[in-house]
Amino acid sequence: MVQANYGKPLFTKAEISKRVGELGDRISKDYKGEDLIMVCVMTGAYMFFADLTRVVRIPVVVDYLGVSSFGSRAKAKGAVRISSDLNQNIEGKHVLVVEDIVNSGLTMDYVKKNLLSREPRSLKVCTLLDKVEKRRANFQPDYVGFTIPNRYVVGYGLDYQDQYRNLPYIAVLGEE
Ligand code: IMP
Repeated sequence: MVQANYGKPLFTKAEISKRVGELGDRISKDYKGEDLIMVCVMTGAYMFFADLTRVVRIPVVVDYLGVSSFGSRAKAKGAVRISSDLNQNIEGKHVLVVEDIVNSGLTMDYVKKNLLSREPRSLKVCTLLDKVEKRRANFQPDYVGFTIPNRYVVGYGLDYQDQYRNLPYIAVLGEE
């Protein structure tokens, strides 16, 4: 087991739940009367995705996309690949990609370009967290839960070396 400290919640369970509810309201209004495919970017978005899809009040189809970087060196250069593809054909459909955190933006920039090549009717990205200070790619999410400073966070799906995903709140790693 990885030994690392994390501090008191940066966002509590209640704060996350309130914000997810607000995002769900906006998404429900924006896609009212439309068919929507919501795509969970695995693995970090799984908890956010489960909560968000439960508060969206329109019928949706859910799908999953596995995304990984090719090793640490390539990660710095932003080399991303799809490790597990969608089951749905998204051509002509409204698609909302749900991500845990946008940092450099390189991952979402790649995912967006890849999915756009399949000619969806529309493609938007909803991220729970946005670290705007670290942006390297020309990418802006369409829906943001919280904008955060440049700190490494864990919990609510986010990991440090595959640990801490199951914390029910978000904390800064290395703080006690
Ligand atoms: P980007 O390509 O630099 O935008 O990085 C996005 C990915 O890096 C996310 O999907 C996360 O997997 C990971 N990541 C970035 N910052 C954090 C963090 O603070 N905690 C956990 N994972 C992070």
